[in-house]
Amino acid sequence: MLIPGVVAISRQSGDSIMKPQIIALLGSPVDDGNTARLLSEAIKGAEDAGCSVTKVDVTKLKFSPCMEYFYCEKNDDCMMKDDVSPFLKRFRTVDGLIIASPVMTMGFPGAIKSFMDRFQVFFMAKYVRKDPLVKKEMKKWRKALLISIGGMNVPYDFDGVRLSMRAFCDITDFEYWEDVLQNDMDSIMDITKRPDKIKEAYTKANDMCRLIAEDKAKYSPKDGVD
Ligand SMILES: Cc1cc2nc3c(=O)[nH]c(=O)nc-3n(C[C@H](O)[C@H](O)[C@H](O)COP(=O)(O)O)c2cc1C
Repeated sequence: MLIPGVVAISRQSGDSIMKPQIIALLGSPVDDGNTARLLSEAIKGAEDAGCSVTKVDVTKLKFSPCMEYFYCEKNDDCMMKDDVSPFLKRFRTVDGLIIASPVMTMGFPGAIKSFMDRFQVFFMAKYVRKDPLVKKEMKKWRKALLISIGGMNVPYDFDGVRLSMRAFCDITDFEYWEDVLQNDMDSIMDITKRPDKIKEAYTKANDMCRLIAEDKAKYSPKDGVD
């Protein structure tokens, strides 16, 4: 995918097609910030579990928010053609998802929220036309991990991102598997002061990706068998 902000992290070898494919979305505009640091640990965890990872720097993509043209009510695509378009295809077959984002105004920041809103294409197919874009068997292994940090020290800091994550996973047929959360970043400042959190990002991504690989091997239709 030759789009600025999209990087295939894993080496593409002959067997990569057999590896579970993971998309890792970065919602922070800060390339080397605390969210990015946690995501890079999670990516290591995913790769060590034998998965192939594509990292998407969502704030670097060029796209518009959903304009409610409702083309997707009757068609399995979006009429707006931009950097989101290839992901509307890719998300049909990807095996796992990691979303890493800071909290802004008590929810996902605008760019990644707008990216997620464009997946109304999946909502319309699943709930309006009753013809989901994700094959039934893939639901047995598709899983998603949320990584989020917030500046404030309040107990409801992640309510917004968790609700949006749950809705997004529901329409795109990922199990919302787990999350890694750290609030109070305005005091902590540097996530490396919390090595337990960095380890948690690695471990949860690693565990999730192992499960995806196991479940995919178990439930993938074998050649010649439906
Ligand atoms: C525009 C903006 C809005 C923010 N809103 C919130 C908020 O509502 N709640 C919160 O806990 N932190 C909020 N924050 C703080 C960020 O979540 C925090 O600084 C985070 O560590 C940024 O991570 P990053 O540097 O990896 O992007 C906001 C930050 C910005 C820039």
